[in-house]
Parts: sequence; C-alpha cells; structure tokens
Amino acid sequence: MAQWCHIPSEWSSLRMAFLAMSALVIVVLLATVGTACQPSESKKVVTFGQYADEGKAVFTQNCAKCHGDQGQGGVGPAIMGTSATLQKFDTAQGLNAFITVAMPMDAPGTLSPQDYQRVLGYLMVQNGFAVRDTPFNAEKLQDYQLKR
Ligand code: HEC
Repeated sequence: MAQWCHIPSEWSSLRMAFLAMSALVIVVLLATVGTACQPSESKKVVTFGQYADEGKAVFTQNCAKCHGDQGQGGVGPAIMGTSATLQKFDTAQGLNAFITVAMPMDAPGTLSPQDYQRVLGYLMVQNGFAVRDTPFNAEKLQDYQLKR
C-alpha cells in the first residue's frame, strides 16, 4: 500500500524543475512587457527641428496671411529673413510670451499650447536662433537666446 503513495524522488524534482521554468518564463515575459512600455510619450525628446517641421503647417495656416508665406512681412512685420527683428524679445520665453498672448492678431490666444510651441520652434530655426538637433525643453524657454 505504502508503495503506491510514495512519490518517486525523480518525479518530484521534475515537478520542481517545471515550476522553476514557469516562474522564469513569467519573469521574462513581465520584463519584456515592462521595457516595451517604457519610452512613454512624455519622456520622448523633442528637438527644435521636429517642432520646426510641424510648426511650418501651423504658420502657413495661422500666420502666413499677415506675415507672408516665408515670414518676409505683409500686413504684419517680417518675422523671418534678414529684415526680421525678433532679437528684441531676447529669449524664446520672451518671444513665446508675445505670440501666445498677441497672435494671431485677429484671434489672439486661440491656438493650442502645442501649436504655439511648434510655431515657436519654426520661428527659432528659421531665424537661426536654434539648430535643429537642440532639444526643445518647454520648461527652459528662458535659456534659449535669440542670437545668431
Ligand atoms: C491678422 C494679421 C496677423 C496674423 C494672422 C498674425 N499676425 Fe503676427 N503680427 C501682426 C501685426 C500687425 C504685428 C505687429 C504688431 C505690433 O507691432 O504691435 C504682428 C507682430 C508679430 C510679431 C512681432 C514681430 C516684431 O518684430 O515685433 C510676431 C513674432 C508675430 N506677429 C508672430 C505671429 C505668429 C507666430 C502668428 C501665427 C500664429 C501671427 N503672428 C499671426 C499681424 C498678424
């Protein structure tokens, strides 16, 4: 009788090995899922170049009718090119403060915060104030000087 109830030792170690393998597989799966989800949207580094590219469309749609397709000026003053004088705003923060409150002149403050940042990036690159590879940090706008 006792014979039947006895679990052979090699059987139980097989079971242990199986459990250990399953645990390992679960750990590996969790780790994989963990890393796959890590680079979240908010952590992605945005560069001036990327915002400049996206900001071009924002500019064309909301600013070009007064400032010209190339920002050369029209009803409004030149904001790109040799006759633009955006240096007077000193930093990206100064320029941003102006455009977010005063522009577009016929509908001030109506763009989304992100569209203002995109058009800011476009103005910065087009005016030679920022190089494309520079990371765009929206919390550090005061650090970007408007100097060529
Ligand atoms: C309806 C016409 C109009 C539209 C649309 C418009 N602007 Fe202007 N903008 C003006 C005028 C006029 C001025 C000059 C205002 C002043 O000097 O007080 C100006 C001034 C500016 C200046 C300051 C330039 C300087 O040298 O003083 C910037 C920068 C600017 N606009 C950016 C923008 C941006 C960016 C957009 C689009 C989001 C935009 N504007 C849309 C008419 C417009």
